[in-house]
Amino acid sequence: MKILLLGPPGGGKGTQSKFLMSKFNIPQISTGDMLRSHVKNDTILGQKAKKYMEKGELVTDSLILEMMEVRFKEKDCINGFILDGFPRTIKQAEGLDNLFKKSNQKLNHVIVIDVEDDEIVSRMSGRRVHPESGRVYHIKYNPPIDEGKDDITNEPLIIRDDDKEETVRNRLLVYHNQTKPLIDYYNKNVITINGSQSIEKVKSNIIESIN
Ligand code: AP5
Repeated sequence: MKILLLGPPGGGKGTQSKFLMSKFNIPQISTGDMLRSHVKNDTILGQKAKKYMEKGELVTDSLILEMMEVRFKEKDCINGFILDGFPRTIKQAEGLDNLFKKSNQKLNHVIVIDVEDDEIVSRMSGRRVHPESGRVYHIKYNPPIDEGKDDITNEPLIIRDDDKEETVRNRLLVYHNQTKPLIDYYNKNVITINGSQSIEKVKSNIIESIN
């Protein structure tokens, strides 16, 4: 099964991906997590991506498409995957179509998690992440068992560099200009979920829509 999660930064794509991963036993492919790992390891790709990410701008389509072509060839993709944060532009969506055409694949579900901008800005100030796994928490809505620690490894949680209000506002602008047009691109295949509900309610709405 191939699921695409679309939605604004902080809309809950990463949070819901983790549930879908264990429910359907398919990997989450988060371009954001992949890029952050490149930045952390100071790879050539990471050095190129860093200057866009810290401003909340998108990394170039060609870099992303090259990275994804490699990722899709990995063994764990054989039964499908959850796309979180890719595609993010019409060019990337066309690139994905081309990659899928080559291997006779298609997306089964396109799910938009819809949340208003002001709610996003207030949510992001409470986000905490475990950088190694991409597990995501919220100090109020989804707190870890021990404050400031990852539930599984007990390692410290961090605040992402791009979660400053000013950068979040720019990421929202980029989302409206460059990513939201994908809702029309996928048009009749899109299912929109109200992402302002509780995490549990969003999760059950998504599962219902897939079933
Ligand atoms: P990326 O890492 O993909 O960030 P994003 O899309 O901006 O999404 P986020 O990870 O910020 O949010 P999310 O929707 O996963 O929400 P989450 O579940 O964490 O991209 C980062 C950067 O990398 C980009 O700016 C760009 O530079 C670059 N990049 C990445 N992909 C790219 C691409 N394809 N092309 C070009 N550049 C690319 O939830 C947020 C918070 O809210 C958490 O604290 C969570 O606990 C909480 N929460 C979740 N759901 C709820 C709820 N229902 N109620 C209350 N709180 C909730």
